Amino acid sequence: MTILITGGAGFIGSAFILEWVDEVKEKVVNLDKLTYAGNLDNLAGLSQDAHELVVGDIADRDIVTSLLAKHKPWAILNLAAESHVDRSIYAPASFMDTNVLGTFNLLEVARSYYETLSGYEKDKFRFLHVSTDEVFGSLSPCDPPFNEETPYRPNSPYSASKAAADHLVRAYFKTYNLPVITTNCSNNYGPRQFPEKFIPLLILNAAADKNLPVYGDGQQIRDWIFVADHCRALREVLFKGQPGETYCIGGNQEKTNLELVHEVCEIIDQKLPSPDGLSRTTRIAHVTDRPGHDRRYAIDDRKIREKLGFRPKWTFEAGLKATVEWYFDNPGWVERVQSGAYRKWVELHYGSKNKKGD
Ligand code: NAD
Ligand code: TYD
Repeated sequence: MTILITGGAGFIGSAFILEWVDEVKEKVVNLDKLTYAGNLDNLAGLSQDAHELVVGDIADRDIVTSLLAKHKPWAILNLAAESHVDRSIYAPASFMDTNVLGTFNLLEVARSYYETLSGYEKDKFRFLHVSTDEVFGSLSPCDPPFNEETPYRPNSPYSASKAAADHLVRAYFKTYNLPVITTNCSNNYGPRQFPEKFIPLLILNAAADKNLPVYGDGQQIRDWIFVADHCRALREVLFKGQPGETYCIGGNQEKTNLELVHEVCEIIDQKLPSPDGLSRTTRIAHVTDRPGHDRRYAIDDRKIREKLGFRPKWTFEAGLKATVEWYFDNPGWVERVQSGAYRKWVELHYGSKNKKGD
C-alpha cells in the first residue's frame, strides 16, 4: 500500500509525511522538485522503506507516468505548489507553471492510470488536491465566513493559480469521473515553515531583536490552523471523504495581524527578554501594504465537522507556543535555511536534475 504525495519536502507536505509514517505506517513516495521551499532537513531520519524521495517536477509527464506505473499508489495527494503570495506578485510565471500546468499534468496522468485500474483498486483510488481558502477572495469584517458554496473570487496571482487548478480538478470529476476531492484550508502555522511566511518571520525577527514588518494598518484578519490539525483533516478526507466533494478546513481562530504580532512578542519576551528590557512590540514597523491585500479570511467548517467528524484540537495559544518552542529548539534548521546551506546540499547531491528548479 503506497501513496504518492507531491511537494512533500515543503512545510505541510513534510508534516503530513512524518505523521503518516508514524500513524498510518504505509509507504510514501514523495515527488518534489526541491525549489527554495523544499528542504530535505524536514524529512531527516525517515528510512527509505517508509519514504522514497523522487526529485522531479509535477509538470513532467514522463516522471509522473513512470511513478504511477512503478508504485501503483492508491492515492495521490497534490501539495506541490508555489505558495507565497508576495512572490506571486513579483514573479507570477512559476505559479502558473506549477500550480496550473503542473496540476493539469497530474490530472491527465492520473486519468490514464485510473483507466487501467479495476475492481477494489479502482474503487479505492483517490486524487486529493490540497487548496487554499484564498481562492474565495476577501471578506469584510461582518461577512459570513467562506463555505463550500462560496463563489471563487481570487485576488492574487497565487490565489488565481490555485483557483484555476481547483476548477480543473472539478472538471476531471464531472467529465471523466476521476475520484477527486479538493480541500480549501485557511492559513497554516507550525514547525518547519519557511521564514518568508508571517509567523516564522515574526518569531525569528523577534528573537534576533529585528524589526517586525506589518503590512499597512495590520488590521487584516486571517484564520489560523496548526499544521498538525490540517494534516489530520487531510487524512480524514482521504479515508472518509466523498469523491467530487470539496471540504473547507479551518482553525476557528480569527486574528488581526496586529493581534498576532502582540501574541508572538509576549511569548518571546517571556522566553528571552530583550537586551534593552523593552517589549518586542516596540519593534513593530508598519511597512507599505501588499498590493491587492485580502482583508479577511474566515472558514465555516460545518461540513467537515458534520460529515467527517473532524474538528481542530489545537488552540491558537498552544499551537503558537509549540511553534515558538520548535524554532528555539532547532537552531541548526534555522541556520541552514537562513544561510542557504540546505540549498547547497541539494545542488551537490541532485546537480543538473535540479537545475530547472527555480
Ligand atoms: P511550501 O511552499 O512550503 O512547499 C511547497 C513544496 O512543493 C516544496 O517542497 C517545493 O519544493 C515543492 N514544489 C514546488 N513546485 C514543484 C513542482 N513543480 N513539482 C514538484 N514539487 C514542487 O508550501 P506549503 O505551505 O507546504 O503548502 C502546501 C500546499 O498546501 C500548497 O498547495 C498550498 O497552496 C496549500 N496550502 C497552504 C497553506 C499554508 O498556509 N501554507 C494553506 C492552505 C493551503
Ligand atoms: P502570509 O504568511 O504571507 O500568508 P497569506 O498572505 O497567504 O495569508 O501572510 C499572512 C498575513 O500577514 C497577511 O495578511 C500578510 C501579512 N504579512 C505582514 O503583515 N508582514 C509580512 O512581512 C508578511 C510576510 C505578511
